[in-house]
Amino acid sequence: MIKVEHLGKTFQTSSGSVVDAVQNISFEVAQGSFYTLLGPSGCGKSTTLRCVAGLEAPESGEITVGNKTVFSDKKQISIPPDKRNIGMVFQSYAIWPHMTVFENVAFPLKLMKERLSSKKIKEKVQHALDTVRLGDLGSRQAPQLSGGQQQRLALARALVREPDIMLLDEPLSNLDAKLREAMRLELKALLETLNITTLYVTHDQVEALAMSSRIAVMSQGKIIQEAVPEEIYAKPSCRFVADFIGSSNFFEGVVEETADPGSFAKVKTTHGLLQAYLAVAAKVGDKVTLCIRPENISIETRKPSSDLNMLTGKVDVAVFLGEFKDVTIAVGEDLVRARLHPQSPVGRGDDVYLHVPPETTVVVAW
Ligand SMILES: Nc1ncnc2c1ncn2[C@@H]1O[C@H](COP(=O)(O)OP(=O)(O)OP(=O)(O)O)[C@@H](O)[C@H]1O
Ligand SMILES: [Mg+2]
Repeated sequence: MIKVEHLGKTFQTSSGSVVDAVQNISFEVAQGSFYTLLGPSGCGKSTTLRCVAGLEAPESGEITVGNKTVFSDKKQISIPPDKRNIGMVFQSYAIWPHMTVFENVAFPLKLMKERLSSKKIKEKVQHALDTVRLGDLGSRQAPQLSGGQQQRLALARALVREPDIMLLDEPLSNLDAKLREAMRLELKALLETLNITTLYVTHDQVEALAMSSRIAVMSQGKIIQEAVPEEIYAKPSCRFVADFIGSSNFFEGVVEETADPGSFAKVKTTHGLLQAYLAVAAKVGDKVTLCIRPENISIETRKPSSDLNMLTGKVDVAVFLGEFKDVTIAVGEDLVRARLHPQSPVGRGDDVYLHVPPETTVVVAW
């Protein structure tokens, strides 16, 4: 539905330096799917989105929406934004301040070629407002809404024309945590029901995991890894991805015995030989990083029968956080974080055995 090929965009700053905002990125968003660009501030997410919308002129690449090429440097095509039939909510959403909430949402409908009856407009606007939970505020002047309400208004305004494609740039960033969580699921369900193909931008990893069919993790203008959420989380391709999404413990080591990707390698670390899952090819002698999620580590106070992938350490900090106990264990020179059951009796100063299961200990590039 959306195909981006070898997209490149640079900016010239006023001081004369050149910013490589987007560097040769390619991805495809399947019809009806929810595709997320995820990455830290400044990695090029908004720029990519704005290129798809036609608000930014790329230097290179090709963008196809449906079966229409909307941009191509080679074929010298650049279709203006209003001819791309795309709904968009910007990071800095702008509501029209001189209008009521209702009028803000009705406005795009009135611009449509197809003339709608005022009854139909009323229906559609009310439906869009109900969807974002602003149903009761239609007659309010738009600037008299809170930040979060204004954000939802911007969303209703983009939804009301029921576009085939929606580009959303951090549309939930101004909502408080509870509402953001509820809106995540509602927005996803809504876009699914309306069968809208969505390209979404966020720097919030939980949001990306919760909402997306696929995620592209970006850093410094490039896509670093692209996969379904489960894979991005469980099988990060590099340390950056593992670190950015969720939290991870890292051990450095050298491959001592390799295996086919999808199987287990033996890696020599300062904590002994560990078996670890190999997602990518590695050779004997390669320096690698092992990454282990805190929730995959289990802790025993008595010596387990097997010493496969078993480490020993001393509990340094144990903090009760309601849903779990966050424990930091000194293992040799390393501090290892583990997430234990909130009722776990483990406490500061305890000598413990840590088990890091091979299937959740993942080898990533150094
Ligand atoms: N108009 C511009 N002029 C110069 N540089 C720009 C311009 N717009 C963006 N950039 C630069 O391009 C890079 C990518 O910016 P972009 O807005 O795409 O990042 P982002 O991933 O959306 O970040 P954030 O999460 O902070 O919104 C940044 O280094 C930014 O400073
Ligand atoms: Mg941005």
